[in-house]
Amino acid sequence: MSRVFSGIQPSGVPTLGNYLGAIRNWVPLQDTQEAIYCVVDMHAITVWQDPAELRRQTREMAAALIACGLDPKRCILFVQSHVRAHAELAWIFNCVARLGWLNRMTQFKDKAGKNQEASSAGLYVYPNLMAADIHVYHATKVPVGDDQKQHLELANDIGQKFNHDYGVDFFPTIEPLIQGVAARVMSLRDGTKKMSKSDPSDQSRINLTDDADTIALKIRRAKTDPEPLPEHQSGFENRPEARNLVGILAAITGTLPENVLREHGGQGFGAFKNTLADALVAHLSPIAAEMTRLLEDPAALDAALRIGADRASEIAEPIVAKARDIVGFLPSR
Ligand code: TYM
Repeated sequence: MSRVFSGIQPSGVPTLGNYLGAIRNWVPLQDTQEAIYCVVDMHAITVWQDPAELRRQTREMAAALIACGLDPKRCILFVQSHVRAHAELAWIFNCVARLGWLNRMTQFKDKAGKNQEASSAGLYVYPNLMAADIHVYHATKVPVGDDQKQHLELANDIGQKFNHDYGVDFFPTIEPLIQGVAARVMSLRDGTKKMSKSDPSDQSRINLTDDADTIALKIRRAKTDPEPLPEHQSGFENRPEARNLVGILAAITGTLPENVLREHGGQGFGAFKNTLADALVAHLSPIAAEMTRLLEDPAALDAALRIGADRASEIAEPIVAKARDIVGFLPSR
C-alpha cells in the first residue's frame, strides 16, 4: 500500500473542475491506499482572505469533501494549519529550493499578474509549502489536476536536493496521478482558460452548490461555436469549447469522449446542452444536499477534522523530527 496525499484550497466552493480533476479521483484511493487529504488554509492566505470567510469556507470545503465521498474513517481528513509539521518542513524547504526554480513557476506568474512587487512572499514560496505537505508524510502518490504538475516536479527537485545535500536517502520520489479526460476542465466562458474558483465571473464555472436551475442556465449560456458537434475527436481542433463540454459529459457519465460523439456527433449544441445539464444536475444535486446537511452540525465537522489532524500529526511528527536532525538542529528535548 502506498501513501497518498492531496490538498485543496478553501478559497471558495469547489468547482466542477476540482471535482472531476481531483476530488472524485480521491474517493476510490481511500480503499486501496493509505490516503491523506487536507484543506490547505495556509496556502489560501497567500492571497488576502477575510478571516471570518476563511473559517466558513474551510468548514464548507471539509463538508464538500465528505459529501463527495471522502469518509473520515477511511481516510485522514484534516486542516493544514492544525498540523504544525507542515510549516516546519516548509521552512527547511525554503532553504533548499533555489530562487531560479521558483522563478520558473507559471502559477506564481499567473496569480501575481503584473503586480509581482505587491504579491505576498508566501505566494512566491507557495510551492515549497506544497512540497512540505507531501514530503512530511513521505507520501509517494499525489492525485491532482493537470495544473499542479509543475509544482509536483518542483517538490521532487526539492526532495532530491535535500537528499543530495545532506547525503541521505530520506525523501522518496513523488508520482503525480493525473487522470482522465477531466484532468483540465475549462471555463464555460472561454475554452482556453481553466475553470477556477477565483474567476471573477460565476458564469465561468459550475459550483458544487449550484442548484438545478443555475446549472441549467450556466450550461445553456456556455460559450460554443455555430458548428454542430463533430463526429470524431479530430474535429475538436480549434474548438476548445466543444472539446470541453464533451469532456465534461464523458467524465460525469463515466465514459470516453468518442462514445459521447458517437451518440451526439452531428447534433447542434442545443439538444446536447440539455443532456449535459440533466447529467450534471443528477450527479451534483445529491452532493449539494449532503453538504447542506453536514453544515448543519459544524461541531461534528470540527470534531472529525480534529481527529484527522491528530492522526496526521502522528505520521508527520517523527518525519519532521528526523528532518530537523538531518539538517543539524539540536534536539529540543
Ligand atoms: P486547488 O485548490 O487550486 O485545486 C484542488 C485540485 O483541483 C484541481 N483542479 C482542477 N482539475 C481539473 N480542471 C480544473 N479546472 C481544475 N481546477 C483545479 C487541482 O489540480 C487540484 O488537484 N496547490 C493546490 C493545493 C495543494 C496540494 C498540496 C495539492 C496544496 N498542497 C499538495 C497536492 C499536494 C491547489 O491550489 O489546488
